[in-house]
Amino acid sequence: MILELQNIVKDFGGLRAVAKVSFTVKAGEILGIIGPNGSGKSTLFNLISRHIPLSSGRVIFDGRDISNAPTHLCSRIGLSRTFQIPSPFTRMTVLENLLAVYSPSPLPKMRIKALEILEMLKLSRLANERADSCSGGQLKLLEIGRALMTDPKMLLLDECVAGVNPVLRQEIVALLQTLRAKGLTILLIEHDMDWVRQLCDRLIVMHQGELIAQGSFEEVTKNAIVLEAYLGA
Ligand SMILES: Nc1ncnc2c1ncn2[C@@H]1O[C@H](COP(=O)(O)OP(=O)(O)OP(=O)(O)O)[C@@H](O)[C@H]1O
Ligand SMILES: [Mg+2]
Repeated sequence: MILELQNIVKDFGGLRAVAKVSFTVKAGEILGIIGPNGSGKSTLFNLISRHIPLSSGRVIFDGRDISNAPTHLCSRIGLSRTFQIPSPFTRMTVLENLLAVYSPSPLPKMRIKALEILEMLKLSRLANERADSCSGGQLKLLEIGRALMTDPKMLLLDECVAGVNPVLRQEIVALLQTLRAKGLTILLIEHDMDWVRQLCDRLIVMHQGELIAQGSFEEVTKNAIVLEAYLGA
């Protein structure tokens, strides 16, 4: 297994946003997290990627306890993520945004990689445009591109296709499947259940900070507690 969460908790003052969540992610797996707005999904990502400190619990990535690790260490050891709300360097170009990601590789090599990634994401045309001229959907794609620049072992995708058009959403399914076939592990948050069904081997369901169910798409979508809390009858 590549990621293990042990009883992780996050309190924001009196609000318990993540309540003793434990689960594991196997190497090469695509695991989906679903759940209502405000159920703690993005907070969980922020805890895993060390953008906010844990209140308690442990995060083990690739055999290493990263519970107190600094954020920048995560990408260096192969854990990369996108944000639900993209925050590019607005006055830099799309290409420069990719090149600004930390990498031990020399710049010419990074540039080749960045151009390949832009091609994959159908953003080549925008390479030299400023990021603040991108549409909402294009910024989502740029987020994925930035996350791929570090050649991660594991990718956390927070609603990476929200606002992306249907054709491109399908292409991203294919892209993520290809990356997984090459060994990438993916943990993703998404509300679009059809997209989730196509991609995920397994699902985790969150509700009010708690993990309320896990299993295959079929198991989870038939679960009475999940229907009540999230999907509707
Ligand atoms: N920095 C913060 N300070 C205080 N409360 C926060 C903070 N971040 C998140 N919360 C609260 O934690 C809860 C979980 O928020 P979170 O963003 O994790 O939800 P989510 O499941 O990702 O929802 P959505 O599907 O809408 O993206 C919410 O009640 C939110 O208001
Ligand atoms: Mg969220």
